[in-house]
Amino acid sequence: MFQNILYETDGALAVLTVNRPDKMNAVDNATVEEMDQALAAVEKDPAVRVLILTGAGDKAFVAGADIKELNRRDLISGRAETRRRQEVYTHIEQLEIPSIAAIKGWALGTGLELAMACTLRVAAEGARLGQPEVKLGIIPGAGGTQRLPRLVGMGRAMEMVLTGEPVDAARAYEMGLVNRVVPAERLMDEAKKLAAVLASRPKLAVQYGKEAVQRFAEGSLAEGLAHESYLHALSCGSEDKKEGVAAFLEKRKPNFTGK
Ligand code: COA
Repeated sequence: MFQNILYETDGALAVLTVNRPDKMNAVDNATVEEMDQALAAVEKDPAVRVLILTGAGDKAFVAGADIKELNRRDLISGRAETRRRQEVYTHIEQLEIPSIAAIKGWALGTGLELAMACTLRVAAEGARLGQPEVKLGIIPGAGGTQRLPRLVGMGRAMEMVLTGEPVDAARAYEMGLVNRVVPAERLMDEAKKLAAVLASRPKLAVQYGKEAVQRFAEGSLAEGLAHESYLHALSCGSEDKKEGVAAFLEKRKPNFTGK
């Protein structure tokens, strides 16, 4: 029933896989809508106690927003599309059950934002995580400027958002960006093992503990997300955004002018 994702359940476990491996699992607007439908299925199924989010293939968890679609994003759609992504990722964050991002390969841009909306993150050795939007002349728009500093601290988040350079799995672990790093071939087994531990704990205590810890970080998240979305939309109106995206699609180096 889905085109861009896979959704499967096995007892207490649900697995949502972004399934566009030929596009490095880049998330387009249709994928966001399918994710939201899968989340509704999670909520309707009382047997499901943990959700694992992952990407198909070996190369990427999710290598960002679909840059072809981003090419068309302007001031108005930039606001609408970031608000919708923020809403769906916040939906993941606010599920009563915990979620685990199982990250192999690239987790970039909206991919890292999606992983950060999950309750926990398990990375495969060799994974690389980053917010490269600045290289396209834009800023993150699906929670990156708000959830990254909450996870790793403001200084490290600032460096990642302003340089656009990714960190490897070992560094991500040191920074607290991922909870554990495992050999790539064991990624899903380890994520499922962690899921089984969570599923074995008392359901309500897990739900309430998750809610309470999240509350710690929620001070002004809504305000921060709104502001981020406006600034993202503004960056979508710049010349450098057109140039950055065109350069990627044309496989050449960008020539930024500061406009
Ligand atoms: N959106 C759309 N298509 C994407 C994509 C994205 N975010 N990321 C990768 N792809 C596509 C490539 O265009 C390419 O398609 P093609 O085979 O039709 O040319 C295919 O996926 C493979 O990517 P490629 O760049 O050839 O692989 P690589 O191993 O050399 O590099 C990355 C991998 C992830 C480093 C590189 O693809 C990249 O930088 N992607 C963009 C990341 C980004 O800026 N994301 C944030 C967007 S806001």
